[in-house]
Amino acid sequence: MSITRRTLLAGAARAAAGAAVLAGPFGRPARAAAAPLRIGLLLPYSKVYAALGESITDGMRLVFEAQGSTVAGRKVELIKEDEETPQVALRKVRKLVQSDKVDVLVGPVSSAVAAAIRDFVHQSKVLLLVANAGDDSLSRERCSHFIVRTSFSNWQLGWAFGSYAARKLGKAAFVSGADYAAGRQITGGFRESYTQAGGKVIGEAFAPLGTTDYGSYLAQIKAAAPDLSFSFFAGSDAVNFVRQYADYGLKSGIKLTGSGFLVSEDVLPAQGDAALGALSALHYTSALDTPENRSFKERYQKLTGRVANAYAVQGYDTARVIVEALGKTGGRTDDPEALRQAVRGVIFTSPRGPFRLDPANQNVVQDFYVMETRKVGGALVNVPVETIKDVRDPGGCKFD
Ligand code: PHB
Repeated sequence: MSITRRTLLAGAARAAAGAAVLAGPFGRPARAAAAPLRIGLLLPYSKVYAALGESITDGMRLVFEAQGSTVAGRKVELIKEDEETPQVALRKVRKLVQSDKVDVLVGPVSSAVAAAIRDFVHQSKVLLLVANAGDDSLSRERCSHFIVRTSFSNWQLGWAFGSYAARKLGKAAFVSGADYAAGRQITGGFRESYTQAGGKVIGEAFAPLGTTDYGSYLAQIKAAAPDLSFSFFAGSDAVNFVRQYADYGLKSGIKLTGSGFLVSEDVLPAQGDAALGALSALHYTSALDTPENRSFKERYQKLTGRVANAYAVQGYDTARVIVEALGKTGGRTDDPEALRQAVRGVIFTSPRGPFRLDPANQNVVQDFYVMETRKVGGALVNVPVETIKDVRDPGGCKFD
């Protein structure tokens, strides 16, 4: 696949760059005429998770464009690569580091890709900001100095919902998910807090990523007759699963629940009323009524024509971490340890709520929202019904 290289800004914004640097909301400009800041984006731009990669990229653009596409005196240059599969992604991350000589890496979306590129990133000492992939091992046995996560760990996503489910929805659950690390780990986190709160997982089923017909899995859920079904599916998988869940008549009797990605704003329009009444947990809903989110949502809508979603916030926050950290290093990215320390100290109020990095594992400590999918003024909205404060992954790392 050919290299896609583009500087971010179109002419109009570029013309305003000088003024925007001074007026930029985050960070401060450093020395002028520095080398461009090359950011390698390893994200999905095709297949099941294509829309996720686009949302993350658009969230980043919002921050950089507000900065006149310049960070600490350096012109931002994004080099985009489609993460595709773990093997292809490993080849592409090598190319980003060795040929393109990127200063910072951002991505991936898939936990399987994250696991595949971890050792190369660790050895290369180029800072990787993980803008989605939740693979738990990156906050635990496979931590790296040079991997910082701005999204979530898979454990956090599942764990955040288990206690609510046991208290409010019933004590028998069936778990299902995409059959790879994300599905296993998110349902694992759910299982932990659900059983601790007195619930029992009475069955499980995992479907290959990209499954289009969930009939046999839905039949297993129906036969088990649980109080609730908890799932991790995302992107086009989430659209297919939720539509078919309604078509197969499971909504009358078995509560549709999951990680919030099952019904997040990127998939709701395609799901329509099939998603109504779902309960889920996530670190973001566009319904959050805060000044930070109101402003973010409005600008995202203007840029893309779409409702904001968690992936876009992850991109936005990742770019903000870059801006804040380079503000501290005076724009320098050539000392990996100094850059890492600057990143670790970044703290701000995100559209998702308070954002800070856990020094023990370099993963975000954040609030999660239990949400119900309702119709508000004719549109499907994930309305927050309960907040779980300061959720942190239990992983502790030896950064040596
Ligand atoms: C993952 O593979 O870690 C993953 C992918 C998509 C999501 C969440 C997690 O929405």
